[in-house]
Amino acid sequence: MAPRPPGWLGRPGKAVARLDHARVNIWGPEMAPKPEPHAHQEKETDMDLDKHVAIVTGGGRGIGRATALELARMGATIVVAEFDAANGQRTADEVAKLGRPSLAIATDVTRRADLDALVRRTQERFGRIDVLVNNAGIYRAAATLDVTEEHWDAIMTINAKAVFFAAQAVLPTMIAQHRGNIVSLASMAGKIGSRTNLPYNVSKAAVISMTKSLALAHAADGIRANCVCPGFVETDMWDKVSRDQGALLGMSPAEFTKARLNSVPLGRMETPEDVANVIGFLASPKSAYMTGQALSVDGGLVMH
Ligand SMILES: NC(=O)c1ccc[n+]([C@@H]2O[C@H](COP(=O)([O-])OP(=O)(O)OC[C@H]3O[C@@H](n4cnc5c(N)ncnc54)[C@H](O)[C@@H]3O)[C@@H](O)[C@H]2O)c1
Repeated sequence: MAPRPPGWLGRPGKAVARLDHARVNIWGPEMAPKPEPHAHQEKETDMDLDKHVAIVTGGGRGIGRATALELARMGATIVVAEFDAANGQRTADEVAKLGRPSLAIATDVTRRADLDALVRRTQERFGRIDVLVNNAGIYRAAATLDVTEEHWDAIMTINAKAVFFAAQAVLPTMIAQHRGNIVSLASMAGKIGSRTNLPYNVSKAAVISMTKSLALAHAADGIRANCVCPGFVETDMWDKVSRDQGALLGMSPAEFTKARLNSVPLGRMETPEDVANVIGFLASPKSAYMTGQALSVDGGLVMH
């Protein structure tokens, strides 16, 4: 077989889509992006997110905050898009202490106007968008017969619909750059069923599904899309999970958490940093040959 040119995405005899990295630099020499390297080049980059601009939604606390700090340690400039303006600013300040540029933008990801403003202000300040981490999300529990339309709509609007429209908002910039990376927070809940939080599980399955479609639709644009599926992560959200699900199952929050912990093969609860480390990997050129994947990061709970 003839040698494959760099960026080759096709098959012999088929139309060939190429990643033409020479087209990338439309932002001037200072922010000139590095092309995503191919597998044989990965050692040269070593998880380097230098000159990458990353937006993290819901970055004010929990997994989003840990992710913002991890991407900053890897060299990225961080935009924290957060509903809670004070927490968003706190994370941006922590990023600045790590020596990376940062900006907090008060954002409700369920509002398309906020997403457009987020993209515009990020462009104005930093000139490009390389990574979107779709992290903002909410949790609610209810027995199946008690799920209301309001419950369903609230969960689906932020956990699923906003994930898609945030991706849609950054895509024109990423397409113009011919480079982009979208990492979304799904959950182990998206791969299994639940007696007590059906809408949440549906919303996370939707994230897995849209990750695959985004990956297919934009591979030839130089854009990758993956998602992570965490398990039981000790954050403010977990406090709500243990309180609300515990109540439905007749357990105290502590009893519920202990029961869940006992089911984890690796024998401990998950930390926000456990998730952030894998998001960092997916956001980096180390994972250059991965797209459309739903990666379990759950201590061995779900093995598919
Ligand atoms: N904690 C877990 O066990 C767990 C497990 C699997 C997946 N996840 C997912 O990981 C993500 C983060 O979870 P977490 O545990 O850190 O949650 P968290 O509740 O601790 O933090 C969520 C953050 O998102 C922000 N947010 C909420 N609504 C928003 C909106 N409309 N616009 C902008 N920001 C908004 C909140 O203010 C908060 O800062 C969520 O998508 C969640 O579903 C969490």
